[in-house]
Amino acid sequence: MALSREAIMEVLRAVQDPELHRSIVDLDMVKDLRIDGNDVTVVINLTVPGCPLKAHFQRDVAQRLREAFPEIGRVNVEFGAMTDQERAAVAAKVRGGSPGAAAATPATAELAARYRIIGVASGKGGVGKSTTTVNLAVALRQLGYKVGIIDADIYGFSIPRMMGNMSRPVVLDEQTIVPVESHGVKFISAGSLVDEGTPIIWRGPMLGKMIEQFLTHVLWGDLDYLLLDLPPGTGDVPLSVAQMLPKTDIIIVTTPQAAASQVASRVGAMAQKTNQRVIGVIENMAYFICDNCQKEHHIFGKGGAEALAKSLGTEVIARIPLEGEVRLGGDVGDPVVIDRPDSPAAQAFLAAARRVAEVAPPPVWSDELRVL
Ligand SMILES: Nc1ncnc2c1ncn2[C@@H]1O[C@H](COP(=O)(O)OP(=O)(O)OP(=O)(O)O)[C@@H](O)[C@H]1O
Ligand SMILES: [Mg+2]
Repeated sequence: MALSREAIMEVLRAVQDPELHRSIVDLDMVKDLRIDGNDVTVVINLTVPGCPLKAHFQRDVAQRLREAFPEIGRVNVEFGAMTDQERAAVAAKVRGGSPGAAAATPATAELAARYRIIGVASGKGGVGKSTTTVNLAVALRQLGYKVGIIDADIYGFSIPRMMGNMSRPVVLDEQTIVPVESHGVKFISAGSLVDEGTPIIWRGPMLGKMIEQFLTHVLWGDLDYLLLDLPPGTGDVPLSVAQMLPKTDIIIVTTPQAAASQVASRVGAMAQKTNQRVIGVIENMAYFICDNCQKEHHIFGKGGAEALAKSLGTEVIARIPLEGEVRLGGDVGDPVVIDRPDSPAAQAFLAAARRVAEVAPPPVWSDELRVL
């Protein structure tokens, strides 16, 4: 192929923005193209200045151009930053509208038709909701589903650390936030938007607004499952979720002791009152297997999850053992289902994912509903 502007643009069409999953040519990100003899300079306009994807673009552009044009000399990739207007035009493109058009953001009620939305709830704090959310999400991904997580625990966010990706999402404009991705799962968290040590001190109504934005202004694309890591109890957030998304399915996480499962029954009762469906109970820290005797030790007692499931007319989806690797995986951002897939805890999370796919399969929807 001769080294012409048109031919180069054609090759660059295959270069994708890894966050937006779209061609840089289609997104008008190629700001300038200079040909000087056999040397080529490509200037790419980045959505955010200092975007950490520079190395990716440099490699991808150079490699593709060298393959297409063996006679090419030097390939320079330079970077510019988009103006607010240019970013808004990209936002409109990825949302599927024309620049300046009103945001094509779905109403929250529409979302249940697109995705299977599952809230992970508990009565008490610290029983393992976030750990369950992350491992269930990654396990569903391993089964081939497309999965997103909303960290709905706005004050007590923990998803970015547990997913091992603390980077900021790309905010194209107020209505268009590109979720962060890790282990093949997309997620958004207040923790992705503020520094980890910063306290969030909003009052109740602001929390609901934030969840609504996470639901409607994040570019989730064509997900099968959207999991919500809820804060414990029956406070503002679970209530707003129940109001915004009455069709949400709920999984209740509890430890086996009666004290925890009794508190969890209030969450179950609220879910049922607000027309959500409790699809099951996950008993976490159900037992501990001792290295020496290989016996199950019931450190937090026994039977609470079974009793809770019975009282709510649902089932125990899984019993997850207490394992050091689960805690470690959460701390370092490598969920146990990836890091130790053969461990009993990982196997239990995987079995839970399979059961969820049976009792709550993703909605079957027509192509018109697909976005991005
Ligand atoms: N099965 C398990 N084995 C070992 N450690 C676990 C297990 N499940 C959870 N943990 C650990 O227990 C702690 C609490 O878990 P997690 O943060 O998931 O609970 P939570 O219900 O989301 O808490 P919060 O109410 O504060 O949001 C974490 O340090 C986590 O790594
Ligand atoms: Mg949590």
